[in-house]
Amino acid sequence: MILTVTVNGEKKHWDIAPDDYLLDVLRRNGFKSPKRGCDTGSCGACTVLLDGRPVLSCSLLAAKVQGHEVTTIEGVEEEIRIIAGYLNREGAEQCGYCSPGLVMTVLAMNRELSQPTEEQIRHYLTGNLCRCSGYMGQMRGILKYMGGHHENC
Ligand code: FES
Repeated sequence: MILTVTVNGEKKHWDIAPDDYLLDVLRRNGFKSPKRGCDTGSCGACTVLLDGRPVLSCSLLAAKVQGHEVTTIEGVEEEIRIIAGYLNREGAEQCGYCSPGLVMTVLAMNRELSQPTEEQIRHYLTGNLCRCSGYMGQMRGILKYMGGHHENC
């Protein structure tokens, strides 16, 4: 089947199998920023935006995005560089494998919420796991990026 989808503002027509997952289709077509982590919809490494909302591309059938808009890091590099700067300055990066998914979720959160509390941030990020850190550096960086204030970190 032919999938027609807008990726990073550009219309694509891709030949896909009905059981292809979005992560595989994106990576096959050169969008390598979404990572395969758990491949079971649990870790968030594969996060991309679908019509502006974070989704787990490893668990989403590509056919379901027919006619929709997908955003990957490749399409929002400037904004992602800014978020990454905040995270890096707080020492949030360790192995870095979760970062591509995390920054996409942070981008979506920043567009959706204004001055969220730590609790709201934690809730928004529940789908993005990091196995190296205790999330404190990420929380500090995200709060600074979003203009929030520190409660416990
Ligand atoms: Fe998709 Fe882990 S690789 S949630």
